[in-house]
Amino acid sequence: MCGIVGYVGPRNAVQLVFDGLKKLEYRGYDSAGIAAIKNGQVYLEKEKGKLVNLGAKLDQLPSESQLAVGHTRWATHGGPSQVNAHPHQSEGVTIVHNGIIENYDTLKSELKAQGVEFNSDTDTEVIAHVLSQEYAKDSSPQKALLRGIARLNGAYALGVLFSGQADTIFLAKEGSPLVIGVGQDENYFGSDITTFAEVAKQAIFLNDGECASISAKEVRLWDFSGAELKHHYTSINWTPGSAEKHGYRHYMLKEIHEQPSVISHSIEHFLKDGKLNEEALGITKLDLDKIQDINIVACGTAFIAGLLGKYFIEPLTGLPVNVDLASEFRYRNPHMLDEGRTLVIAVSQSGETADTLASLKHAKEAGCQIFSVCNVEYSSIDRISDSTLLMNAGPEIGVASTKAFTSQILCLYLWANAFAKQIGKLSPEQENQMTQELHSLPVHIDLAMNSEDKVKTIINDYYESPNFLYIGRGPSYPIALEGALKLKEISYIHAEGYASGELKHGPIALVDRHMPIVAIAPQDEYHDKSISNIEEVRAREGMVIGIGHDKDDKLQAVCNDVIPCPQVNNPAFQAILSSIPIQFLAYHIAVKRGTDVDQPRNLAKSVTVE
Ligand code: F6R
Repeated sequence: MCGIVGYVGPRNAVQLVFDGLKKLEYRGYDSAGIAAIKNGQVYLEKEKGKLVNLGAKLDQLPSESQLAVGHTRWATHGGPSQVNAHPHQSEGVTIVHNGIIENYDTLKSELKAQGVEFNSDTDTEVIAHVLSQEYAKDSSPQKALLRGIARLNGAYALGVLFSGQADTIFLAKEGSPLVIGVGQDENYFGSDITTFAEVAKQAIFLNDGECASISAKEVRLWDFSGAELKHHYTSINWTPGSAEKHGYRHYMLKEIHEQPSVISHSIEHFLKDGKLNEEALGITKLDLDKIQDINIVACGTAFIAGLLGKYFIEPLTGLPVNVDLASEFRYRNPHMLDEGRTLVIAVSQSGETADTLASLKHAKEAGCQIFSVCNVEYSSIDRISDSTLLMNAGPEIGVASTKAFTSQILCLYLWANAFAKQIGKLSPEQENQMTQELHSLPVHIDLAMNSEDKVKTIINDYYESPNFLYIGRGPSYPIALEGALKLKEISYIHAEGYASGELKHGPIALVDRHMPIVAIAPQDEYHDKSISNIEEVRAREGMVIGIGHDKDDKLQAVCNDVIPCPQVNNPAFQAILSSIPIQFLAYHIAVKRGTDVDQPRNLAKSVTVE
């Protein structure tokens, strides 16, 4: 995984690269490093842990440097440590790398047999030695790069410095994202455009199989055969969202509290004159009449939003919907119809998740239509899609997804309604009723924010439990999965989500008086059955935390505690509301346990390796 960034131009390259790394820390925060050139000499600093540790060493790099590359790491090969941090070096070569080299073991054995000594446990160091060997042959950086990458299998976005080339950075891309920012007498590269979007208004997105060189005044591109390529510019119209905490202790808490306004903005954006706005919802660019079935692919929380999507896309459109973990989809020979008859929907906050992206490439090759629900414009997933619904949820910085999740649910739901309308399955009356219910959603979300007070009063009884179960029926089942995921990722408590009806098929064996069970139980069509399932748990002395209406006497009677949640008729909107108490529960338990809520251990915001 990891993020890479570089700058060449008249300004303080070290500071600019460090600022760029701050924007990329969402891609990993195990270690970071910068290499800068001054008077032809390479200066290098790297440090284990978060970027702030590297920041403390910045003054050891030359502030007069006009060329630098940087890296922030999420460990794949070799643990988080200073030696494994990038940049890596070999004679005449300094590199930063995002991706995974699959044949690194074979290459490493070959290189060792030739007497090459290794300093780290990374796959990346292999690339440095390979490039060094190739550069030694004829001192041509372009040829060395092409010959070197021909020896690599896997995914890579590479930033390379060659000795004797003090004003040029060389780049290569296969699989991992890489984009050049074109400025006035200065150029940048990065894993995404956020690293330079405030200063460079033109970008060149490299495609797989492309290399580049950037100096202050020139960008050159060529393919892996060495043939020069024309520049393919994209104008960047990017308004950076706020990355401030605005007085909140954590980004996650701020993002939970932003949900009423995110949903209000979505209503403005996705409705036009009180009706569904087909263009903003990404409907107009799809050939709806062709579609015979739908596959949703996503990872983690986005996958759970996709699962929920199935609950309303199928009944609204009448089309079969399959939901796959992106990491499985690609490798299981999924049923796909060509000529656009299968629609593959990717759900992704970042738009860079490698498994989701790989699934889309696979689906595209099979002739499917590709639609994505994505929060980041110009991201790889946005660019590969035939049509993108941009969520407009604003930047999500906390690693645990909150506002993006509820926004994904809303987007999928509105998209399904717009689709149904286009194919004549949603009447004007039904559309009116839905939009009326939608207009009252922000008020209900505001009310759901009150659940935080109750969460704070009950967590003392639960936060030390080593295990939690979450249960729900119908659309509350994916919310149970999300509740468990949220809790485990930020509090490190083992938690599992189950469909309430599944409990007695195995997991109920875990229930005793030490086991907290969070039951998501709105007063919907499944309510009586949900109450029966809670009774089964109570009969085994489990401690039940209900999430439901505070006037729900039946629920109150069977739970140890009830976290109040407003009740609405629309199941999709109810799922959004039920998400809020489970977010607060995970957040406050994590705070109580003293974990790093915004940057939990071993995780990254965007997972760019398969
Ligand atoms: C969990 C979480 C992750 C992401 C997953 C997909 O809170 O955030 O599970 O949902 O890594 O990421 P995106 O949506 O960027 O594709």
